[in-house]
Amino acid sequence: MDKQVSGMHPAQASPSVEAFASARALLESSLLHIDGRPVGTIASLDPRVPAENYRDCFVRDFVSSALVFLLEGRPEIVRNFLDLILRLRGQQDELHGQQRAPGVLPASFKIVETLDGSHEVSADFGDRAIGRVAPVDSMMWWVLLLRAYTRATGDATFSRTPECQRGLRQILNLCLQSRFEVFPTLLVPDGSFMIDRRMGVDGHPLEIQALFHATLRAARELLIDEEASRWLIELASRREDVLRDYVREYYWLDMDALNRIHRYDTELFGHGIENALNIYPDSIPPWVPDWLPDDAGYLVGNLGPGHMDFRFFAQGNLLAAMFGLSSAGQSRALLRLFDLRWEDLIGTLPLKIVFPAVEGEAWRLITGCDPKNTPWSYHNGGNWPTLLWPFVAACLQHDRADLAQRAVRLIEARVARDDWPEYYDGRRGRLIGRKANRRQIWSASAFILARHLLDDPACLQRLGFGEEPRT
Ligand code: GLC
Repeated sequence: MDKQVSGMHPAQASPSVEAFASARALLESSLLHIDGRPVGTIASLDPRVPAENYRDCFVRDFVSSALVFLLEGRPEIVRNFLDLILRLRGQQDELHGQQRAPGVLPASFKIVETLDGSHEVSADFGDRAIGRVAPVDSMMWWVLLLRAYTRATGDATFSRTPECQRGLRQILNLCLQSRFEVFPTLLVPDGSFMIDRRMGVDGHPLEIQALFHATLRAARELLIDEEASRWLIELASRREDVLRDYVREYYWLDMDALNRIHRYDTELFGHGIENALNIYPDSIPPWVPDWLPDDAGYLVGNLGPGHMDFRFFAQGNLLAAMFGLSSAGQSRALLRLFDLRWEDLIGTLPLKIVFPAVEGEAWRLITGCDPKNTPWSYHNGGNWPTLLWPFVAACLQHDRADLAQRAVRLIEARVARDDWPEYYDGRRGRLIGRKANRRQIWSASAFILARHLLDDPACLQRLGFGEEPRT
């Protein structure tokens, strides 16, 4: 594609070719090096970045870049990154009165030049991040990337090194340790994943559960079946099963489920009852029955004691569909929802991160009056180009390439022209995000990745992302 563009007058190039070339150029200039070796990509190349850490390489942001590098025959960048992140875990500070959890991986890192001209890497475990948020998703993305690297290269020697095996065991240990849980889902604080600000996503948010489920499966596949890991592999397998059954049963919302919840008995004690979490029917927001189509459904955003968050979160639903956390029927119903509610969930610029936005008093209480998260902006109902790739992946896996193509066309027509904004504002995503960076790398790499997947859907299998969902 690059070659085609260079020989062509700009006016002749199609939006698709131009967008691809512009994304490629941006990705290339975002590479971070240590001693000449590429180890990651910077989050944003906007010269006016508002927050200092947009110059960092974020683990979650690097994922789409990494998958592009794997598909384009540059696996060494991904391996350098995986290796570096693993080594950085030693930098985590020990809080007074707490034991360090060795499985925790950083949210991001930066490269600092020292006085003698050499380089040091400095990691942020959420202890410097705005609001001090815990990057729970980092360790999960690391495992998924390790599997993608192993699958794409066919080389298991790296994942079988003692260091990687120890890392995998530590991550599983951390996730599978019992604390105060009564559910198979994983309990996390607010802002512990892509939505890394206060947004009422503490407890058992869907995105973390989808990543957790995929991590359990990937880690089982990567761990060597030996004495030190055998019990963890067994535990992970059992947890994967109960987690999947639980999410499919209790998070799923379609008209049948809604009718059941609407008529729930409450205040019930003991085992074997339908409304085990004591959800009160009056907590169903009025928009839900009007909005939910007959033949469609989705996994709700969060679930806990007396609490069902009915908001639609795109990333959690798409990862659930990609990795088989939702059943094949549920995934098809999810994609029908995108089709039937296209204006709300895709709008003019794919994709809406969460629908609907919280407004008024709910906004004050849930976001803590966050001026960046005003209704229909940023994490509170903004549209994020980086969500394109999981959308395309989920569509391809569940026979809806038509939707994937529609979404890619929308991005092609606009995002390169707007210089790769981080997010868009408004109900339909027509405005460039008020505080959005331009030249946001994961907006560009998600587009390149989406194009590769569309051009050759077999790429999904090559990355280990095309697993058949268990029905
Ligand atoms: C914002 C996003 C987060 C992302 C980071 C770097 O904090 O909320 O998900 O990783 O920017 O792009």
